[in-house]
Amino acid sequence: MTACEIRAFIDQLPKAELHLHVEGTLEPDLKLKLAQRNHIDIGQTTVEEVRKTYNFHDLPSFLSVYYPAMEVLQTEQDFYDLAYAYLQKAAANTVRHVEMFFDPQAHTSRGISFATVITGLHKAVVDAQDLGVDAALVMCFLRDYSKESARQTLAEAMPYKDWIVGVGLDSDEHNNPPLKFARQFEDAQAAGLHITAHCDVDQKDSIEHIKQALEIMGVERIDHGTNIVEDPDLVDFAVKQGIGITSCPPARTDTSPKMKGEAILELLSKGAKICVNSDDPAYFGGYINDNYYALASQFNLSKEQIAQLARNSFEVSWIPSLQKAHYQSQIDTYLSKDK
Ligand code: ADE
Ligand code: ZN
Repeated sequence: MTACEIRAFIDQLPKAELHLHVEGTLEPDLKLKLAQRNHIDIGQTTVEEVRKTYNFHDLPSFLSVYYPAMEVLQTEQDFYDLAYAYLQKAAANTVRHVEMFFDPQAHTSRGISFATVITGLHKAVVDAQDLGVDAALVMCFLRDYSKESARQTLAEAMPYKDWIVGVGLDSDEHNNPPLKFARQFEDAQAAGLHITAHCDVDQKDSIEHIKQALEIMGVERIDHGTNIVEDPDLVDFAVKQGIGITSCPPARTDTSPKMKGEAILELLSKGAKICVNSDDPAYFGGYINDNYYALASQFNLSKEQIAQLARNSFEVSWIPSLQKAHYQSQIDTYLSKDK
């Protein structure tokens, strides 16, 4: 397949996106627009200047740029605009279903109410139907905050439970194991929510964290999670249980060098339900099709392998089985037309 053929194949392939932080879709131009609208001096006045601040080399340095950038998000309309701008891009990337992470504590900790955040995001989710994108929200706990803060956040979310499909765990993983939040995850599950957790790439305790998340907490997916290849027994467990692994091979490897392509291919060949996602596309240099393309071109993926990644994305999503079957048949039709 030529580069053009791979790109064209990916560009029209129906897919789901399951690892996408809505705050990570804050493009420099929108950040500037929201700063002006809210009369906030962010220290830059041009898109290029803002873009230059999106500079980091690992998870902590990324987070130290990421959280301060959120200060421009103040009103319900700001959250709506942020999410809707992403959902338009999702539609253009033939994303049929997306489960979007949001970080309420990153906003409530600076005085923005939970209601403001979730109402803005939810309105965008509703309007996304008109774009042909089925969207849902996954609330993340910030793992570098306390258990008490997570407990309080879950309590605040309860009146909006019907607008949330699951809970996740993100932010700085160093010395913040999944088990720290075992109780809050149990409570979330008891409230009918799905559960997933970030097990970021190459962390100090990656394997131990993956073990805790899978074997003790019973999460349905691990986000990133590619270090699982280091433990064949865990891979076996994940394959047997149909655990989702939401990898994010970055489109731009200069700022985020950890593509983990070999691990993704190994997991795919073993039948693990691994898929491709964009994580924080405004920061990592590409939306989902760019990430599929970066992986496919660098590792010479066949159409069948690319399609399997998309099939997996629907398979481990949190939609009803009938809807899953519908999307899988869309992929079948797409493949048969492509022959
Ligand atoms: N918050 C946003 N993106 C994240 C990531 N990839 N890992 C941990 N926390 C995050
Ligand atoms: Zn992430």
